[in-house]
Amino acid sequence: MDIDKLKSDASGQIGAAKDLDELNQAAVKWLGRKGALSEFMRRIPELEPDLRREAGQKLNALKKELEALLEEARERISGSAQARDEGLDISLPGRPVAAGSIHPINQVMEEICDIFVQMGFDVVEGPEVELDWYNFEALNFPPDHPARDMQDTFFISGDVVLRTHTSSLQIRTMENTPPPVKVIAPGKVYRCDSDVTHTPMFHQVEGLLVGDGISFADLKGALTLFVQKMYGPNTPIRLRPSFFPFTEPSAEVDIGCVICRGSGCRVCSGTGWLEVLGSGMVHPNVFKNVGYDSSLITGFAFGLGVERIAMLKYGVDDLRRFFENDLRFLSQF
Ligand code: DAH
Repeated sequence: MDIDKLKSDASGQIGAAKDLDELNQAAVKWLGRKGALSEFMRRIPELEPDLRREAGQKLNALKKELEALLEEARERISGSAQARDEGLDISLPGRPVAAGSIHPINQVMEEICDIFVQMGFDVVEGPEVELDWYNFEALNFPPDHPARDMQDTFFISGDVVLRTHTSSLQIRTMENTPPPVKVIAPGKVYRCDSDVTHTPMFHQVEGLLVGDGISFADLKGALTLFVQKMYGPNTPIRLRPSFFPFTEPSAEVDIGCVICRGSGCRVCSGTGWLEVLGSGMVHPNVFKNVGYDSSLITGFAFGLGVERIAMLKYGVDDLRRFFENDLRFLSQF
């Protein structure tokens, strides 16, 4: 009694059945009442007594196996019959579904936020359509002050603007929270400007740390840590005196050029340094506008442009690439 041969013949024929007729024939032949398997079962008593038990077990297992194969073949045949009726060719390869991914600017913005979150900053967000008070006035830009010219503003109406920076979140946060405050504010900002390094919409991350005895050294320490996490542990920073209405003193922060590492190249215009962000100690007038007592607390603030950081990180020379939505560009990130 060759059970292995029975197994290979039967499964071969069931697997090869092309339609239900052929399959039914195979079923009768191998599994029917008078089929091969039943025939084998009937002959078990003819075997030596010590072989009977094993043969019985094997035949029962084979029966289950062949029944499963039959079921599988039935599904295969009825499936392809249905597909044929519907005019489908199920042997054709499938069309791959294009998987989306996070936009490079959002990736870099998340990376920046992660670094500050690790330092204990909370993330806050606010409106893109903003009142003049939050965007300018409370940040110590007096009405008609020439400092407003630094930011080409889109006006919605007299005192409603598209925010030109996320510094507005300094005011919105402090007006709702007593000190200490330790927040970063990522988001979109808008300026009427368009060329290879400016787009009318871009992204900023603002930072604000206010508390007891916060000093300029804390500002420098936090920004050094940020820059070294972003661009590598040997990246130097340099602070240059600058002016912003809402900070005093103010500083522009440069990093050692990430392309030439300081020796001078086209990207850093031969200086070895790249300007990456603005910063300073929060101006007492800003504290006054949110009801903080500047004799008790101090703080630092900084603001950086996400696109600038991303361009330097990936060596992209035209900012507009990020927003043309050309998948050949975007899918490289
Ligand atoms: N808001 C400034 C801008 O958009 C950037 C900035 C500079 C933010 C200095 C700050 C700061 O918090 O201290 O140009």
